[in-house]
Amino acid sequence: MVKALILAGGKGARLRPLALHVPKPIVPLANIPFLFYQIDRVKRAAITEVVLSLSYQPRKIIDIFGDGMPFGVTMRYTHEDLPLGTAGAFKAAENLIDDTMIVLNGDVLTDIDLTDLLRFHREKGAEATLATVRVMNPSGYGLVEARADGRVARFTEKPPEDDVTGDTINAGIYVLERSVLARIPAGSAQSFERDLFPLMAQEGAAIYAYHTQGFWQDIGSPAKYLDASFGVISGRVKLPRYPHNSCLQNDWEKARITIDDISMLDGKCVVKPGVSIENSVLGEGCRIEEGARIKDSVIWSGTRVLPSARIERSIVGRQCYIGEGARLRPGTVLGDKSSVSDFSVI
Ligand code: GDD
Ligand code: MG
Repeated sequence: MVKALILAGGKGARLRPLALHVPKPIVPLANIPFLFYQIDRVKRAAITEVVLSLSYQPRKIIDIFGDGMPFGVTMRYTHEDLPLGTAGAFKAAENLIDDTMIVLNGDVLTDIDLTDLLRFHREKGAEATLATVRVMNPSGYGLVEARADGRVARFTEKPPEDDVTGDTINAGIYVLERSVLARIPAGSAQSFERDLFPLMAQEGAAIYAYHTQGFWQDIGSPAKYLDASFGVISGRVKLPRYPHNSCLQNDWEKARITIDDISMLDGKCVVKPGVSIENSVLGEGCRIEEGARIKDSVIWSGTRVLPSARIERSIVGRQCYIGEGARLRPGTVLGDKSSVSDFSVI
């Protein structure tokens, strides 16, 4: 039986300060802990046995998913005290692996069809299949070069800028046969991307690339997290249960409140007259006061935005305080409990 393993042990260093108190795998995306999307994707391929591979702040993640029952899956966990790397984490789950595994990075949002990925893998008789995507800026990813028949000729993890030759990257979604375990040395940190895949490609092993053209976006940095958020609320990523705006629309017009159809507000938000919200996400219990303007931004729960503040292409953590008339310019990222005094410009 095919199971899934989700790699969720990274520290999320590039997503600081957002991932300081909330580990990256459960950072809210469109007001839902990120891993919900991964689990949903896996379930759509009729896979109900899921292993979460944890290292950083595991308790917070286990508290949400427990045995997986409420989510319609059986959830098992592995935990590394010291991170073992992506392949090391797979190896550490050895006793939970009995057959073909789907392995997913815990920080990629995609509407890839995993059933079709599995079909491709079997058709090729592959030992490992990597999903690939084309991106505008491939630096900072794993570069995959494949032959016409899909066989991977070269895998290069994060080559220096000058050596970036293509725009097809590793999407962080794999199908691996159990036999791959034998290729990973035990007892030391091992990386799929720096050790295993380059070597398999070099050896001419049956490692294949499955190209996908669906939506794909990782949430590895604040800018990417914002783009993934916009992907969800705009409906560009095809999700089964697109979470709707739960705010009551009564009286908006009378109060000169403008909120576009795309924006997503938790039902427990308070929005005062004259507020304008565009292409943004507001978490539970936010309070947006008279005349504040929010555009292309994500605000986590419990944040208070005072009158006439302006927030643009920014991310604001939990329980922040944005003073009257303050202005958050594009690119601002505020961690939990930040406070911006009245009329400050950030
Ligand atoms: N359990 C465990 N242990 N998980 C880990 C460890 C570890 O030691 N190290 C990383 N992970 C998890 C992270 O939590 C994340 O979900 C996933 O493995 C990938 O790690 P990242 O740190 O996010 O890697 P990256 O974004 O620099 O690069 C990876 O993703 C790209 C696509 O987004 C690589 O797979 C690239 O080749 C790929 O293009
Ligand atoms: Mg990543």
